[in-house]
Amino acid sequence: MTIRPLSQDDLPEVLDIECQGYSFPWSESVFRGCFRPDYRLWALEMCDRLSGYAVVAYMAGEAHLLNLCVAASQRRSGAGRRLLRHLVAESARDGMSQVLLEVRDSNTGAMNLYASEGFSVIGRRPGYYPGGREREDALVMALSFDSRCDSPGPP
Ligand SMILES: CC(C)(COP(=O)(O)OP(=O)(O)OC[C@H]1O[C@@H](n2cnc3c(N)ncnc32)[C@H](O)[C@@H]1OP(=O)(O)O)[C@@H](O)C(=O)NCCC(=O)NCCS
Repeated sequence: MTIRPLSQDDLPEVLDIECQGYSFPWSESVFRGCFRPDYRLWALEMCDRLSGYAVVAYMAGEAHLLNLCVAASQRRSGAGRRLLRHLVAESARDGMSQVLLEVRDSNTGAMNLYASEGFSVIGRRPGYYPGGREREDALVMALSFDSRCDSPGPP
């Protein structure tokens, strides 16, 4: 598995994986709009094939994870965790104070992943996501870098 910056040339494969991952996938124009200086887009390759990606927006000193998706055929092999660890490390390196994300109330797989990497639930946004008949709540999860800095200061 290797991780590199995502490029606009990856978008055909990204759109294919996106449709495998979501009932309400992002459009090509939404992805194109994410190629901006304050966003970070990461690609994960397995055997030279794009197998997953992450989209992160840096806003007011916080990293917002907007999209994390792995090709259906490659799931449960550690790709999502690799991408998450990478974007968390890059966000910390870029001086962000925390990583924030929204996750569907029903998406227990993703929630398990985030919780196992130290994210906590900090809120709920009622009706945040489109749904079949009814909209669905989002849980807001965060990983704060400040709480990791437990090292004692100078005497
Ligand atoms: C969520 C997603 C990115 C996880 O990617 P992945 O490559 O399958 O995840 P990993 O293999 O790294 O799994 C890491 C951990 O996440 C949890 N997990 C992942 N999928 C799970 C599932 N279907 N059910 C329960 N737990 C799951 C487990 O704790 C897993 O650890 P384990 O395999 O040691 O038990 C992937 O399922 C996906 O792309 N889903 C569709 C898009 C999506 O929902 N994105 C998240 C939006 S908030």
